[in-house]
Amino acid sequence: MRVAVFGAGYVGLVTGGCLADLGHDVVIRDIVSEKIDTLRRGEVPIHEEGLAELLARNRERLTYTMEVDEALDGAEVVYVAVGTPPTVSGDADLTAVWTVVDELPPVDRRVVLAMKSTVPVGTGRTVRHRLDERGLENVGYVSNPEFTAEGTAVHDFMHPDRIVIGAFEDVDADVIEGLHAGIDAPVVRCDVASAEMIKLAANAALMMRVSFINEIANVCEATGADVTMVAEGVGLDHRIGRHFLRAGIGFGGSCFPKDSLALKQLAANSGYHFQLLAAVIEVNELQKRRVIGKLERRLGELRGKKIALLGLAFKPGTDDMREAPSLVLAARLRAEGAELTAWDPVADGKAHLDGVHLARSPLEALDGADAAVVVTEWPELREVDWTEAGKRMRNPLLIDGRNMLDPHAMREHGFEYEGMGRAVD
Ligand SMILES: NC(=O)c1ccc[n+]([C@@H]2O[C@H](COP(=O)([O-])OP(=O)(O)OC[C@H]3O[C@@H](n4cnc5c(N)ncnc54)[C@H](O)[C@@H]3O)[C@@H](O)[C@H]2O)c1
Repeated sequence: MRVAVFGAGYVGLVTGGCLADLGHDVVIRDIVSEKIDTLRRGEVPIHEEGLAELLARNRERLTYTMEVDEALDGAEVVYVAVGTPPTVSGDADLTAVWTVVDELPPVDRRVVLAMKSTVPVGTGRTVRHRLDERGLENVGYVSNPEFTAEGTAVHDFMHPDRIVIGAFEDVDADVIEGLHAGIDAPVVRCDVASAEMIKLAANAALMMRVSFINEIANVCEATGADVTMVAEGVGLDHRIGRHFLRAGIGFGGSCFPKDSLALKQLAANSGYHFQLLAAVIEVNELQKRRVIGKLERRLGELRGKKIALLGLAFKPGTDDMREAPSLVLAARLRAEGAELTAWDPVADGKAHLDGVHLARSPLEALDGADAAVVVTEWPELREVDWTEAGKRMRNPLLIDGRNMLDPHAMREHGFEYEGMGRAVD
């Protein structure tokens, strides 16, 4: 099929590249000329595992453009993969989505408009009305939400747990199901509102597990239990499962924080107070700040102390720093008067952090530091020569915000080690 993808971001590029890999001809449209120029040169504007190879392998079937007409020329499916960031009120900002919808010209054949962007429940119905008002009855509308995780998005797209297709008309759902031929996964076909809610509810369920295990971790700390053992023992229960039971300094990223806020707000706008989700969000906010208390207990006042932040991206495998816990941590530490150095293998700290010295290696970041904090569980951190690192630090204290390092080994390397929800020295 011929497919147009609006939005050359994390979702649009993975969607376009994977659909090309399935044999479709794909045109990716964005409004940022630098992105399109970069892609045309054969480079990739973001860091996502396997994406560069995917786009290179399928270059014959991929075109990049700024022009709406070029993107829509002959397209049978038009994907919307533009950003839906939060507004000041916490609702999803659908400005970019409406721009795409309003830019669609009349078509003389059936075209399916497929929504990949995460949108509030009811958006599809509103889009349908808008299309009908403009006489675009032969533009079908489908909600086909995206569940890929940054860092593993290419793999997730090709091996999904399910493909959700919410449609007003069966013929349109058939087209989207056909587009995914070659992917072996259960297909959930439903109405548009349910598909929209599946995406928001799935995210909320994952966030709930993270906040749950973080609260268990906090109680473990207060009572002498070790949350890593607790999570293993709990997660082996088949009714519970092991995923998303890793305690740490909370979730971030471009999806969870904004989608939880959008769902809470969506419920509130409909007259319902989503109490559980409100608690999940609050627990996460507090969790990001727990490292400050740990540092203060060990170092006293933080003014003038040199703290090394290891990792800036909201998770490993991506350069995405949107809503990353590192941002809150850095801002709080700076407010306390600490001096910060930071290292990340791919995230661009310069663009997001003021007054933080950016190091080219973990060892450089640790040089002369009074404490280090593991903020992102980059595998590279396991390869650090920690004995050497300890010698270079003014005070070998490590707060492991992701419980990724072995406490015994770190103590043998001469470190004072503290994780999240684990026994303390
Ligand atoms: N990032 C993820 O892993 C992920 C996963 C699932 C769902 N989502 C959802 O997918 C959507 C996109 O997320 P993202 O992370 O890819 O965002 P992003 O900010 O990386 O990309 C959005 C792109 O859309 C472009 N754009 C804006 N207006 C446009 C227009 N009129 N025409 C064409 N392009 C336009 C922007 O320039 C940008 O390049 C969001 O709704 C997000 O919640 C994201």
